[in-house]
Amino acid sequence: EEELIHMFKGIPFTTRSSPELLKSLETFHAREDDLLLVSYPKSGTHWLAGVITKLYSTQVTLTSPIEFGDLSKLEELNKLSSKRIIPTHLDYNMLPPNFKKKKCKMIYIARNPKDTAVSMYHYYRDNPNLPTVDTWTAFFDLFLKGDVVCGSWFDHFLSWEEHENDKNILFLFYEEMKKDLPKTVKEIVLFLGLNISDSDIQDICKKSSFSQMKSDTEKENSDPSHTVCTLTSNRKLIFRKGTVGDWKNHFTPKQNQRFEEIFNEKMKLSKMAKNLTFEF
Ligand code: A3P
Repeated sequence: EEELIHMFKGIPFTTRSSPELLKSLETFHAREDDLLLVSYPKSGTHWLAGVITKLYSTQVTLTSPIEFGDLSKLEELNKLSSKRIIPTHLDYNMLPPNFKKKKCKMIYIARNPKDTAVSMYHYYRDNPNLPTVDTWTAFFDLFLKGDVVCGSWFDHFLSWEEHENDKNILFLFYEEMKKDLPKTVKEIVLFLGLNISDSDIQDICKKSSFSQMKSDTEKENSDPSHTVCTLTSNRKLIFRKGTVGDWKNHFTPKQNQRFEEIFNEKMKLSKMAKNLTFEF
């Protein structure tokens, strides 16, 4: 079981991210027109990727995450001639410096960490690439300690939030997408400098609903391990519930209190913390 995880620069990665690849990212060659889709796992990465790929009328390629695979990954990405849409769960500090230097556009999607924790718990249970967790109680502790793949949710979010004013980075929130997807899609369209009619936006939103994406994925017969998330072994596992507030069905009052204490402490300087804790 221990072989499923290895540490790199203090962060737990699955063995599906080879240490050689992680090391070589330091010198990765970015292109000006690369678009990065950034997230902590279980924040709505597939949803965002589903929306984005529907926005382009020109040829684009949604790649697997930059940190996923071995050294052959670099050549694979190099060979692509079309615009690359590259997902990643890396925190800001570990992002290949070349993306920063070239001011590539990046979209960061965040989700209430309580729901992220619940989603990740179910994912750990269903996914053979991840260590076994026996109970929600045990997972809850691991999550708060940052002892899960991709490390601490707090460190991840804060490393990116530090760059909230960078013009090339757009921040999105899962809860806002649930509340008003067309509004978020319009923000994305503006950020990417695209030109898309309102009726096309409506159509894209319809095609990106949870139920539509779930049934599309069940019907498709392409390789289910081709994915935008390093943890995924089977894309069909992604579409579990897709709601806001499922944490209420898992957290005990005591766990909630502990979570809030830690959240308030870690996020005390965060301006965006309030965007994550919507109540509906
Ligand atoms: P749940 O486990 O709470 O259902 P990621 O893509 O980053 O792995 O995130 C997965 C989470 O996003 C899952 O949450 C999944 O159900 C949810 N999700 C995926 N597609 C969605 C959609 N179209 N609308 C709402 N939620 C979606």
